[in-house]
Amino acid sequence: MTTQFTRAEYQKLKQLLNEQAYYYYVLDEPQMADAEYDQLYRRLLQIEHDQPSWVDLDSPSQRVADQPLSKFQQVKHAMPMLSLGNVFKVDELTDFVTRIGSLLSKANQSFKTIEFSAEPKLDGLAVSIRYEKGQLVQAATRGDGATGEDITANIKTIGSIPLSLRGESHPDVFEVRGEVVMPRDGFSQYNEWALQNDEKVFANPRNAAAGSLRQLDPRKTAKRPLAFYTYSVGVVEPAHGFTTHSEVLAWVKSLGLPVNQLNQVVKGATGCSAFYERVGQQRDTLNFDIDGVVYKVNDLVWQELLGFVTKAPRWATAHKFPAEEATTIVEEIDVQVGRTGSITPVARLKPVNVGGVTVTNATLHNEDEIKRKDVRVGDTVFVRRAGDVIPEVVKVVGSKRPHGTQVFKMPNQCPVCDTRLVRIEGEAVLRCSAGLSCDAQLKEGIKHFASRKGMDIDGLGDKLVEQLVDAGLIKNPADLYHLTESQVSGLERMAQKSAQNLLAGIDQSKQTTLARFIYSLGIREVGEATALTLAVQLKRLPDIIAADEEALQNLPDIGAVVAKKITSYFAEPNNQMVIEQLQAAGITWPVIEIIEATDLPLQDQVVVLTGKLTMFTRSDAKTQLQQLGAKVTSSVSAKTDYVLAGESAGSKLVKAQKLNIAVVDEQWLQDLTQR
Ligand code: IVH
Repeated sequence: MTTQFTRAEYQKLKQLLNEQAYYYYVLDEPQMADAEYDQLYRRLLQIEHDQPSWVDLDSPSQRVADQPLSKFQQVKHAMPMLSLGNVFKVDELTDFVTRIGSLLSKANQSFKTIEFSAEPKLDGLAVSIRYEKGQLVQAATRGDGATGEDITANIKTIGSIPLSLRGESHPDVFEVRGEVVMPRDGFSQYNEWALQNDEKVFANPRNAAAGSLRQLDPRKTAKRPLAFYTYSVGVVEPAHGFTTHSEVLAWVKSLGLPVNQLNQVVKGATGCSAFYERVGQQRDTLNFDIDGVVYKVNDLVWQELLGFVTKAPRWATAHKFPAEEATTIVEEIDVQVGRTGSITPVARLKPVNVGGVTVTNATLHNEDEIKRKDVRVGDTVFVRRAGDVIPEVVKVVGSKRPHGTQVFKMPNQCPVCDTRLVRIEGEAVLRCSAGLSCDAQLKEGIKHFASRKGMDIDGLGDKLVEQLVDAGLIKNPADLYHLTESQVSGLERMAQKSAQNLLAGIDQSKQTTLARFIYSLGIREVGEATALTLAVQLKRLPDIIAADEEALQNLPDIGAVVAKKITSYFAEPNNQMVIEQLQAAGITWPVIEIIEATDLPLQDQVVVLTGKLTMFTRSDAKTQLQQLGAKVTSSVSAKTDYVLAGESAGSKLVKAQKLNIAVVDEQWLQDLTQR
């Protein structure tokens, strides 16, 4: 059948449908009944079927790609995606606002009260969406803030995100950032469907949103009820010229993207805390999960003046809601052995729903905590969970303690390898010191080694690691690289094909990066960020191994405690042996180019900080100085080039003056950072 439509009519129909989506999702004012929309949509499909060459990229029919991806590509963010600092109490909020006030006064800004854009803190997944010449071209997850994953195909399936921007005039490049969430009603419906269809049931809407976006088949994502709210913009070219954040969001909305309807401009700490109370009261009635509110200085010039601390802006903070609590009964108390040998007592609980999640285990942290709280088997306890963190036992309901309960005693020996437990002075935890010869630590160590952020070994899941260790096939991570097909295919539920896949995955992991390799070693206190710092700053494994505590402390964000953990890790002969074996097994990474950073403003200058700082926290000041090329040391000597003195500086300032060393203030640092 040929339709009697012209191409212009097709385009008008497409526009009408896109316009309806805008009224429905963004303005929340539907202009036609669902049935009417469906009928028009079917007509559009019919025309596209008859005239395939007419199909426009922004037709609603183009939302779902018909091919699954084999994997997600990496996307480097044009501007980093930052995180937020936190406040929990009203006086922390007041401190935040006061601090901003004093920074602004120091920068000679005059004001009566500071305006904030107050917004709900949506509990979903941060994404960035890029439009070029008005067309949606790319969408990415936040990832580590610098690089995320390309989820364009999945983002296009979200009905409230326009495939093309509204109106006639839009920037050449327009990047929005916001949160993808699964609305609560959609979440319950989806889980009900999943239960009946033997599909994965999600624990909460956040996991459901994350799982849906990490789905390689966009046809599956399209079936998940997802929503999106914009909370900021990234790259905009040409620049937009607005002077406040709230104006920017209003503009974003006019271009067709959803912005949360609870957002409000408020004044000062009082306005912020009133917003917090109001939104807190509405929390249960909202159709999406929030875990707090966010305050952002509304004036964009001020945002610029205030700047950033490491990964979060000084001009914004999250005000979190208190964690959620419930009561239940302790059925058992076990102890678990962690990756680093730490012994953690865990309460096995009568299952209880805490804020929408079923909790069956809760941590009792350590020996001191369990003593302090005197938690016993049979007790009724308060359990708390907050966001992603492991639920914890808060306290015992004393009046409900049954007769005959017994005080819990921590074991003297490791429950897995029988080694006598030790408690290192100054530490709260008992430890099994057997290292990789304790099977529990070996298993956790291998899981960490193989994890996605580590060596990223495809096909090596937790269960398999446990089997490999239990079968005595691996005694340290290097043994993974010597496994044979016959060894692996002898394991439970391991056919030849999966054995081959596992070995291929292990083989592929040999090409890695220095940062991943360092992370995967599982050095205490060395997470992804620190591993990256070590790799980027020191560039060669031998130099990392050889660095002493002082050299390490001179690196950004590495303090005395972490430095000590790193040096003692590399001093251990066993660890040296494992590293040698891993390299001998063929693990390699690209060499990082050494660029002599001689043109940094404070290259090789030695700076000492003293006195009370008001514009920076001490650790920010240290990081900023290091990023400018300086070495920050703690005592003033003839080698010192500058003493940065804050309020009420004492003996160091006196010494500097005696030695004729240049004394500078915070403004000096501020000026240098803004050059
Ligand atoms: S602004 C530079 N606004 O919270 C500021 N973030 O802890 C960047 N989030 O990764 C974030 N609601 O996923 C901002 N109204 C909101 C938010 C929000 C939720 C999330 C976001 C971010 C995390 C930061």
